[in-house]
Amino acid sequence: MITPDTIQRVRDAARIEEVVGDFVRLRRRGANLIGLCPFHNEKSPSFSVSPAKGIFKCFGCGKAGDSLGFLMEVDQMTYPEAVRKLAERYSIDIEERQQSPEEQEQAQTKETLFQINEAIANWFQTQLWESEEGQIAALSYFRERGFTDDTIRAFRLGYAPKSWNSLGDYAKEKGYKEEYLQTLGLISKSDRKTDVFRERVMFPILGTSGRVLGFGGRYLIKKENSPKYINSPESEIYLKREVLYGLFQGKQRIIKEDECYLVEGYTDVISLFQAGIQNVVSSSGTSLTSEQIRLIRRFTKKVTLLYDGDAAGINASFRGIDMLLEEGMEVRVVLFPDGDDPDSFARKTDTEALKTFLKNQAQNFLAFKAHILMAEANNDPLKKAEVLRQMADSLALIRDNFSRITLIQDCSQRMEVPEEMLVSEINRRIRKRVSERNQAEHSQSAEPKESAEAGDNPELSLPEPAQSHKEIQRETAQLDLIRLTVLYGDRLLHFSENEQDFTINALTYVLDELDKDNIQLPNPLAQAFIETLDSLDQEERWSEIQAVLIGHEKSEIQHKVLDFLQSPYHLSQYWEERHNILTEREDTLLKKTLAHSILSVKMNVLLDRSDALRENLKDLQIKQREAESNVQEELQLKSIETLAELSKIQKLIQRFATELSRVIIR
Ligand code: UTP
Ligand code: MN
Repeated sequence: MITPDTIQRVRDAARIEEVVGDFVRLRRRGANLIGLCPFHNEKSPSFSVSPAKGIFKCFGCGKAGDSLGFLMEVDQMTYPEAVRKLAERYSIDIEERQQSPEEQEQAQTKETLFQINEAIANWFQTQLWESEEGQIAALSYFRERGFTDDTIRAFRLGYAPKSWNSLGDYAKEKGYKEEYLQTLGLISKSDRKTDVFRERVMFPILGTSGRVLGFGGRYLIKKENSPKYINSPESEIYLKREVLYGLFQGKQRIIKEDECYLVEGYTDVISLFQAGIQNVVSSSGTSLTSEQIRLIRRFTKKVTLLYDGDAAGINASFRGIDMLLEEGMEVRVVLFPDGDDPDSFARKTDTEALKTFLKNQAQNFLAFKAHILMAEANNDPLKKAEVLRQMADSLALIRDNFSRITLIQDCSQRMEVPEEMLVSEINRRIRKRVSERNQAEHSQSAEPKESAEAGDNPELSLPEPAQSHKEIQRETAQLDLIRLTVLYGDRLLHFSENEQDFTINALTYVLDELDKDNIQLPNPLAQAFIETLDSLDQEERWSEIQAVLIGHEKSEIQHKVLDFLQSPYHLSQYWEERHNILTEREDTLLKKTLAHSILSVKMNVLLDRSDALRENLKDLQIKQREAESNVQEELQLKSIETLAELSKIQKLIQRFATELSRVIIR
């Protein structure tokens, strides 16, 4: 564990222009430096580095952060890795919290396991390239499959010889503990302790930073009683749920393309990679796990599934999909023509044609699912209703309102059902989910409470955890409004009121709305945002305004902005892709979402206010009962004022409730 002190010293010492300068050629422009963004493809520089603020920011793709963030992004480092790297560069001694002996021993074992796997991967490679058996049996096999030497080396492919214990002999010579070799699944646990991988071509499975976690070994010739692939067992260093084959080789391109292709097998990854599609990974035979999805999400939110065009493949993809949606990914699918898988298709198609094919064939997964299921239902009304329910299940999982609206429209067209039908089905699910969650939280907290406070008047005990849940919802509502404002503040909104057309940008709209009802956001961070935004010169380009926020003196603001900027594509993507056709509707979408967001926030603030006033009123009444007659009148006056205020707020709440129901986001 690196101490916070060390981290601070590293932060202070690091010079952003030097750290970035290792990866990007920078030119000075004014106080800043500019260059070509390493995170997306571009011809003219929109990547800017501010030495004064210690941050970078790309006005093209929106990536932004400090030195540590840059390293984590560009080199796929973890936070501690980035800290270590910079500490080394700036000669800062790293202070660490003492590890317990057990922790040290465990770390030691893991390190040893990694070292053994590394040596064995090298050994498999040597067998492939240098032994006669390897060249004849395996190298020729790879070449026949069309793998070039470069590809074979890039994936560190190897060969495990036919003999029963050549690996074992080699390992003994190197002095590796038998127990470790067994843990790694290299040597059998039976009495004979023979090699596990024999006469197989070897696919090492690499972690995100390139370390060898395990192996997959494919037989060269089909054998009865022997599986096509033998895979290393799960171990301390190989947690299968968290590993994606091809990620090490493909991660840079995944970032650059902002898209990740997902295929089924080792060979699909390798063939696509060689064909120029390098942003590709595989979950390797197992079904996709949520850990793997989160791993992808570190690099991109867009996943495109590549499937063989058979029914089994399609059904398999249906299963993984809800999980991807739940994790907030944007999912598309490409089906290959009958009889082809990504591997075979890539081999017979040149790079450009392959790219075009993938681009043209990719369709939004849910729209695609709607289409397939409706075709299957074949106009049978019962089946159609079932499809409608299934689609609503999936659509309800989508968190992003804009994506959801767009998809609802798309699906309703493909299914030939009115949008309203889908919407009401979806809303039912969302309401159910919310109430279930509330209940779950309620029952969790209620039980211990009841026993602890047995005999207490239940009406008097405040349901605290339920309250905190409400708090969280309120905070989320406020920060959501901030998120929309920070991301889309410069977008123009068109209104017409009293036969007057007018256009203002989203920021002005938000500020006016809050001002109009004299609303201060209760969440201090949210309010700080509003104040900062209010104070900025709106003539600036929006990206500059965002940069100012990133450089804000409050680190919470910095972090939040970076958070926001890291997932901005939902809305903008639709704008960019369909610029000319849909601008009209998107204006309406943003207006609706903003209106909804503002109203929810206002509602919350007013509800709080009315709660407070009610409390006041209660106090006043109690006091009044106990007070001397000379102050009674004064207290009564106060009560009346409070009541008037309360009824004013009540009316506002009523009004907002009506408005809210009118702009309910579907
Ligand atoms: P495939 O049978 O499609 O294998 O299984 P493949 O890699 O495409 O091999 P070729 O093209 O026939 O040579 C897909 C994936 O399922 C896992 C492997 O990860 C494989 O890449 N698998 C398959 C196993 O783990 N064990 C098996 O016995 C079969
Ligand atoms: Mn295959």
